[in-house]
Amino acid sequence: MNPKSIIGENIEKESLFPSGLPFKSYNDKVLLVSGDGSITFYNTRYRQSYRALSTGAYTESLMKFFIPSGLLEKTVNKDLRVLDVCFGLGYNCAVAFDRLSSVSSPYRVHVVSIDKDETLPELVNTLKILFPTKGYGILRKCLATGRCGRFSMELHIRNALEVIWDLRGNFDAVFFDPFSQPRNPEMWHLDVFKRLRELLAEGGKLLTYAGGKKVRRIMEEAGLNPSDTPIARGAFMPGTVAVRS
Ligand SMILES: C[S@@+](CC[C@H](N)C(=O)[O-])C[C@H]1O[C@@H](n2cnc3c(N)ncnc32)[C@H](O)[C@@H]1O
Repeated sequence: MNPKSIIGENIEKESLFPSGLPFKSYNDKVLLVSGDGSITFYNTRYRQSYRALSTGAYTESLMKFFIPSGLLEKTVNKDLRVLDVCFGLGYNCAVAFDRLSSVSSPYRVHVVSIDKDETLPELVNTLKILFPTKGYGILRKCLATGRCGRFSMELHIRNALEVIWDLRGNFDAVFFDPFSQPRNPEMWHLDVFKRLRELLAEGGKLLTYAGGKKVRRIMEEAGLNPSDTPIARGAFMPGTVAVRS
């Protein structure tokens, strides 16, 4: 099958398919192998990949979301609440479960995740090559039963712009992972960041892969104090970690 026949001419301009790369499509999503060997999707409606292909899907979740969140240090002292805005293929959840499960702790971790695409849970269950294996094992059990050991999770298949107003706050980390501002503009609105700020616990952090000036200005206007995440190997720009100012 020719990729251009599925997703149009733009794909060739964006060079997302080095010749010979195997791919498979699921409605509006095309499976891709990213820079670190982990898989991700290209979305044909948003005309964007779910993760930075150069950095790699797994590496981006680890470096721009999990490590700067400080959750690893906090999990030995208290119960944690994590808000994952835009679940996608679940990398942010799986990487968090994977890393947090490497620490022995009596404290619980509860994740509230949101995505409007109802096909995603089935894909996470089907795609057994998703990595990290242990983290995805915990995630799949949580999707099936709501709980796995000290981890629990609720996935809301709804518009995040509605769900965030119904949530109780006190989140230690907010993973903010929509498509980019030009492709998914409603998610990067001032009111969204104001609400996410309200949902943060004292000392909580908002993480996103984006580090541009425009996005950071909106965060500052919302009462957040943004700074750089460490730069991941293969990444061109740092992400943003923001705390309440
Ligand atoms: C960049 S991808 C998320 C990547 C993801 N965290 C991962 O690990 O693969 C963006 C996701 O945002 C979701 N999305 C976009 N707008 C949304 C909205 N208004 N409400 C809920 N989900 C939305 C899309 O369905 C898509 O799954």
